[in-house]
This record gives sequence, structure tokens and C-alpha cells, in this order.
Amino acid sequence: MELLLGVLLGLILAVASSAQNNCTCATNKWTVCAQDGSGNCTCTLVGSNHRVDCSTLTSKCLLMKAEMTPLKEKRLWGQPRVLLDIDGIYNPDCEDSGVFKARQCNQTDTCWCVNTAGVRRTEKGDKSLNCSELVRTSWIYVEMKHKKRSRAFNVTNIENALRHLFKRRYKLHPKFITAVKYNCPLIRIHLNQQGSEKSRCDVDIADVAYYFEKDIKDDSVFHSNRTLAVSVDGDALDIEKIRIYYVDEKPPEFCMKQLAAGVSAVVTVVTMTAGFGIAVLVILRWLRTRKYKKIEMKEMGEIRAPSLR
Ligand SMILES: *[C@@H]1O[C@H](CO)[C@@H](O)[C@H](O)[C@H]1NC(C)=O
Ligand SMILES: *[C@@H]1O[C@H](CO)[C@@H](O)[C@H](O)[C@H]1NC(C)=O
Ligand SMILES: *[C@@H]1O[C@H](CO)[C@@H](O)[C@H](O)[C@H]1NC(C)=O
Ligand SMILES: *[C@@H]1O[C@H](CO)[C@@H](O)[C@H](O)[C@H]1NC(C)=O
Ligand SMILES: *[C@@H]1O[C@H](CO)[C@@H](O)[C@H](O)[C@H]1NC(C)=O
Ligand SMILES: *[C@@H]1O[C@H](CO)[C@@H](O)[C@H](O)[C@H]1NC(C)=O
Repeated sequence: MELLLGVLLGLILAVASSAQNNCTCATNKWTVCAQDGSGNCTCTLVGSNHRVDCSTLTSKCLLMKAEMTPLKEKRLWGQPRVLLDIDGIYNPDCEDSGVFKARQCNQTDTCWCVNTAGVRRTEKGDKSLNCSELVRTSWIYVEMKHKKRSRAFNVTNIENALRHLFKRRYKLHPKFITAVKYNCPLIRIHLNQQGSEKSRCDVDIADVAYYFEKDIKDDSVFHSNRTLAVSVDGDALDIEKIRIYYVDEKPPEFCMKQLAAGVSAVVTVVTMTAGFGIAVLVILRWLRTRKYKKIEMKEMGEIRAPSLR
């Protein structure tokens, strides 16, 4: 009898603890989750009380905010990390909806305007700077290089694998992937999402690109399935370099002399080499044909990642 009771008790405890373990946020590891009396699991963002919808991606703004939370606080739930690769990362101000506020400032009263990807698109100013609207980043280009291998992947298969990945892992509707191009070892993915095309339940391409970048850098935002595994032709697709270009609906407002006629896009490029990133600012010539051409590359010192070497 006592044995039975003990077994029962053990079972109950096991069920209770497994139910607790269950209460995690699949799409966001920067969360603290708790179960209420009716067994519902609610998750809030680390460092703020923002409720997170774990059935979809969290916005880039909220993620950046969580990542900027002091390491001490993060350790509380077992995420000890020595150094953050804060490439282009700052502590942003987000709207309640999770999108970036058009104007971002740092603690020293320096302000600038950003796009929907949180990338600076104006000169820096003081607190009197006005950002009348949040300009949409409608095009995102991802350029990647895979590790050397004896033969190229099958073009069709690599394209299918990547389209499938974006749909399954990041829940991006395939219509927003306008092209996947492959020229061994270079892979290009073009994402295009106009504001008018995006419904409330669509993930934003800026958020998708951020999750993807984190996955490639082996710092996945996902709670489980942290390791990105893409297999093509039976082999792992091993990415060794990635660059992400953000192009806005409207020309940026930098007062650089190089901003001659025809140049209408300044994009931030996030580069990854050997696991850490460097953010650089690149000016692109945006042609009518929707082709782009780099005309200048200028490193922005203040957003450079700390060197790990
Ligand atoms: C635990 O997860 C399973 C499947 O993932 C789900 O069906 C179940 O409702 C969850 N339990 C709790 C207590 O959240
Ligand atoms: C909790 O879960 C129940 C059923 O699973 C649902 O009807 C209820 O709306 C949930 N409550 C909250 C606050 O989400
Ligand atoms: C704020 O921006 C200014 C100008 O770029 C920079 O000098 C300063 O270090 C920044 N302060 C913080 C706290 O980031
Ligand atoms: C910003 O807007 C406020 C109110 O609309 C105005 O008073 C101020 O002069 C503007 N500042 C600049 C630099 O345009
Ligand atoms: C690529 O794979 C597809 C099937 O997945 C096949 O039909 C096609 O012939 C392959 N192309 C090459 C160049 O091997
Ligand atoms: C993890 O990934 C695998 C394959 O990519 C998938 O089958 C599985 O459902 C994923 N698990 C979770 C918990 O998302």
C-alpha cells in the first residue's frame, strides 16, 4: 500500500515537473515563462514585462532589447555568455507592438532615425532630431558563402532546401522570397515584403533575417532546436560567411558627398566571419531594374563589434 502510494506520489511529481519543463517559449530563449493555475504558460521577455507570443517570431526590436539586458540577469536562467557580439546592436526603444520607434537615442542624448530593421538611416543628431515616420525596409538581401567542398551543390536542391527552411523554421510565406540564387560557393536570397503585402499575422522579413543571422552565427534565438541544420544532396550546408543588406522604401538621409543622383539606398551589411560579426555601412546604387551595385563601403566605427582575438 505504502509502496503504491509512493509510486503514485512519484508519478504525480514527475508529471508536475514535466509540465513545468513544458512551459518554455519555443521561438525565444530570451524569455521567462511561468504556468498559471489553469496550466497556461505565459512568457515574458527578459528585462521587461513584455508578453511574448511564442507561436511566432519575436520582433527584432524586442530581441535586441532582451540581448542588451545585463549578463547578470541573464545568468539567472542559465544563459552564461562571456561576450556578446554586439554588431550593430544597441539598446533600442520599441513600440508596444514590438516595432522599432522611428527615433532611437543613446544615453548621451545622441539620436538617429532607423528603419523597420532598426538600422540607422540618418545622420546622428541631438534630442531635437525629428523622425517623422518609421521607414519600411522592404528588401533584404542575404549573401552567404558555404565552406569549400569538392563539387557544387545541385542548384535546384539548394534552392528548395532554403525555401523550405524559411517557411518551416521562420514561418515566412514563400511569396516573400523572390529569389534564391546559387553560384558555388555563393548563395543569394532575396526577400521582398512591401508594407501593403504584409498582413498582421505575417512575420516581418527584418525579424526573419535577424533569426537567420543568429542561427548562422550559432547563437540561435530558438529555445529548442538551436542548431540550424540544412542538408542538401545528403550533405550539411555549412555557411562560413554571411552578409545581410537592408534596403529601405525611401532613400536614406545621410549628407555624404557620395550620395549622388541615382543612389537611393544605404544599407547596413552585417558580416560574419568565423563566428563574430562586423557591421558596416554600404551605399548601393539602386537601379530601376532592381539590381544593386556597391559603390562605396565605409565602416562605421561605432557599430563595430569587439574583436575576439
Ligand atoms: C506540454 O506539451 C504538450 C505537447 O507539446 C502539450 O500537448 C501539453 O498541453 C503541454 N502541457 C502543458 C501543461 O503545457
Ligand atoms: C487558459 O487556457 C484555457 C484553456 O486551455 C483557455 O480557455 C483560457 O483562455 C486560457 N487563459 C488565458 C489567460 O490565456
Ligand atoms: C552615444 O553615441 C555617441 C555618438 O556616436 C557616442 O560617442 C557615445 O559613446 C554613445 N553612448 C553610448 C552610451 O552608447
Ligand atoms: C521637431 O518637431 C518639433 C515639434 O513638431 C519642433 O518644435 C522642432 O523644431 C522640430 N525640430 C527639428 C530639428 O526640426
Ligand atoms: C538536381 O536535382 C534534381 C532533382 O532533385 C534533378 O532532377 C536534376 O537533374 C539535378 N541537377 C543536376 C545538375 O544534377
Ligand atoms: C526540430 O527540427 C526537426 C527537423 O528540423 C523537426 O522535425 C522537429 O519538429 C523540430 N522540433 C521542434 C521542437 O521544433
